[in-house]
Amino acid sequence: MKLWGGRFSKGTDALVEDFHSSISFDKRLYLQDIQGSMAHAAMLGKQGIISQEEAEQIVTALEQILTDIENGEVEFDLGAEDIHMNVETILTERIGDAGKKLHTARSRNDQVALDIRMYMKEEIKATKALVLQLCEELLALAEEHQHTVMPGYTHLQKAQPITFAHHMLAYLQMFRRDAQRLDDCYRRTDVLPLGSGALAGTTFPIDRQFVADQLGFAAISENSLDGVSDRDFAIEYAAAASMIMMHLSRLSEEIILWSSNEFRFIVLDDGFSTGSSIMPQKKNPDVAELVRGKTGRVYGDLQTLLVMMKGLPLAYNKDMQEDKEALFDAIDNVKKSLLVYIPMLKTMTVNKEKMHGSAKGGFINATDAADYLAARNVPFRESHAIVGHLVAYCEQHGKDLEDLTLAEFQQFSPVFGEDIYEYIAVDRCVAARKVPGGPSVEATTVAIEQGRAWLNQQER
Ligand code: ARG
Repeated sequence: MKLWGGRFSKGTDALVEDFHSSISFDKRLYLQDIQGSMAHAAMLGKQGIISQEEAEQIVTALEQILTDIENGEVEFDLGAEDIHMNVETILTERIGDAGKKLHTARSRNDQVALDIRMYMKEEIKATKALVLQLCEELLALAEEHQHTVMPGYTHLQKAQPITFAHHMLAYLQMFRRDAQRLDDCYRRTDVLPLGSGALAGTTFPIDRQFVADQLGFAAISENSLDGVSDRDFAIEYAAAASMIMMHLSRLSEEIILWSSNEFRFIVLDDGFSTGSSIMPQKKNPDVAELVRGKTGRVYGDLQTLLVMMKGLPLAYNKDMQEDKEALFDAIDNVKKSLLVYIPMLKTMTVNKEKMHGSAKGGFINATDAADYLAARNVPFRESHAIVGHLVAYCEQHGKDLEDLTLAEFQQFSPVFGEDIYEYIAVDRCVAARKVPGGPSVEATTVAIEQGRAWLNQQER
């Protein structure tokens, strides 16, 4: 007999039973469901809505059910639909009438909203902890490579020289914003929906603040319709997760390029690479590729949630049961990706010589040659054109800028002097970029200190 079977004259069709049951995936929420019910029961007892003895009986039995679930001794029943009714059914089997009183002044609509919020609060913290560990790793790489000059690119064409530290610090900024987004999402998740009832609250004199305090919620929801209809927090998490994946995916793309034979900027540890079943020489950056691949999947989860919600009238609709698989998928994949990334970065070898060598050619110092003239009063647009002609000349003669004689330089502008060679040397080009946020050692030292200070402020 269904918990809601009173008005029905026949059982659910077997196809429907299978179709609408969510226990196969929402059993993940068993802990939150039981903790939520314990707080609800304690509140019902305190308010005299049920007797204290009944409340105690419920709480004790729920504790036992929790232990039994954790010991693998509970078989969930597909017919009981979801985790909420499974727990309640087991409770009633065990303690009879007192169990039947647990659902007083509550609906599965506010119950499921509560369970997901409780679950998400933990998962947001767990995701953030991994993001912070990744930031630690990026900072360590930055500290080690402040002098590792490498080419900076735009359009994947050599642009201006930077350092590997500067490159890693760029990712630090991205993941720092991701951590902030998770904090922000946490604040809006940390609101107790229980007490919203099915949609219109309840006539019973419940104490919502007591339940919020028991369960560690910072606030209670302020509108019962919104309390059961809102999944913004889940969408926000999926959006934050998508952004984390997007950042990991861009880094993955670079790691894949850098570990290619054409770049050879880095070598991934054997433990974080895989081979080919046919080509004996292959060592593939599969982890980075798979993270890049999973990014699309997490975007899909966000899309699933957004589209699921867009046409729903207030308040609860069964469509919303579809939130869980997408959300769980986003959580699992972003966490797994972060978890594998941290040691992959830690164990990778950075080929400083190759990076430095690559930073030398390809007219990467052309901007500096133009700056040289501009600093000597040639209007920048003119100096840009002069160096453009120089580059064309070099290309015709198979030379780099630094290979030209002073006479050749002076054919293009009499302003060039002997000190041009020192000025366009790649290490000086980096060292001269002292601007805050720039790649010089001075600037990256400040960025590293700021990054450390931020990391140290984070609760862990
Ligand atoms: N299993 C449902 C879900 O996940 C729980 C809420 C069901 N409420 C209802 N009135 N059918 O959304």
